[in-house]
Amino acid sequence: MDLPPVGLGTMGIGDPSTIETAIDVGYRHLDTAQIYDNEAVVREGVAASDVAREELTVATKLWVDSLAGDDVRSGAEASLDRLGLDAVDLLYVHRPRGDYDPETTLPALDELRESGLVGEVGLSNFEPDQLEEAREVLDTPIGAHQVEFHPYYGDRELLADAQAHDYPLVAYSPLIGGDAFDDPVLTDVAAKHDTSAAAVSIAWALSHDNVVTIPKASSRAHLRANFEARTLALDPEDVERIDGIEHERELFPE
Ligand SMILES: NC(=O)c1ccc[n+]([C@@H]2O[C@H](COP(=O)([O-])OP(=O)(O)OC[C@H]3O[C@@H](n4cnc5c(N)ncnc54)[C@H](OP(=O)(O)O)[C@@H]3O)[C@@H](O)[C@H]2O)c1
Repeated sequence: MDLPPVGLGTMGIGDPSTIETAIDVGYRHLDTAQIYDNEAVVREGVAASDVAREELTVATKLWVDSLAGDDVRSGAEASLDRLGLDAVDLLYVHRPRGDYDPETTLPALDELRESGLVGEVGLSNFEPDQLEEAREVLDTPIGAHQVEFHPYYGDRELLADAQAHDYPLVAYSPLIGGDAFDDPVLTDVAAKHDTSAAAVSIAWALSHDNVVTIPKASSRAHLRANFEARTLALDPEDVERIDGIEHERELFPE
């Protein structure tokens, strides 16, 4: 799947004009989820923009109570209804828990793909062995894997899997949920490049092969700054310094 380096994370966005502004700034990948309760907000924002639907990649996620094989189709159709779309480009399993059963959930997702309601099947918050199991069951390759990945947290085995099998690792919470700004290493590297710690955190994620990212932002200024971060090239020693940050913090543990 060909995802742009910087997409929009929409968790917490309740105002359609934020989506419209993001599209205007240049974002073409919009990431929502049933549990964010804002698929209709995304629909309204897309409708208000003058960018054609075909130019956008819209991703949503089935929550853990819609993952039983018999519920997948109705859950996906409910999302499509809220999104006002005939098809979604990427449909994720949000978390492999609750009603998730690889033997029934994944074939139901394959069927949605075959019937054209879903472009690609995505996975989110999977462990390496669960990825392997999914690969064995799915008819088609994994479309993308969305996981927490930022300077304070990231599973290198998951990154290696994405690189070995050549699918995008979609890095979520790239700004450490808003905490990237106080980090002394990130602010120091930012000063060197005359930019912000937010931009450095995003550029660090993008410095890894196969990684794209989806920062969430509300204002036009933040949206633009994060989008522009895709052009920031860190020096190898900057990446090394950030890799060396010892502070570990997982924002969304299971
Ligand atoms: N698959 C999953 O289980 C999962 C879990 C968590 C998140 N996600 C996805 O990942 C997306 C992003 O993660 P996140 O929302 O946790 O956090 P994040 O993107 O790391 O950080 C968002 C925070 O940073 C602030 N911010 C954004 N740009 C800024 C800038 N340039 N300067 C200063 N502050 C800035 C935002 O404030 P303002 O809004 O005020 O701009 C917001 O408070 C989510 O929206 C969601 O789509 C997925």
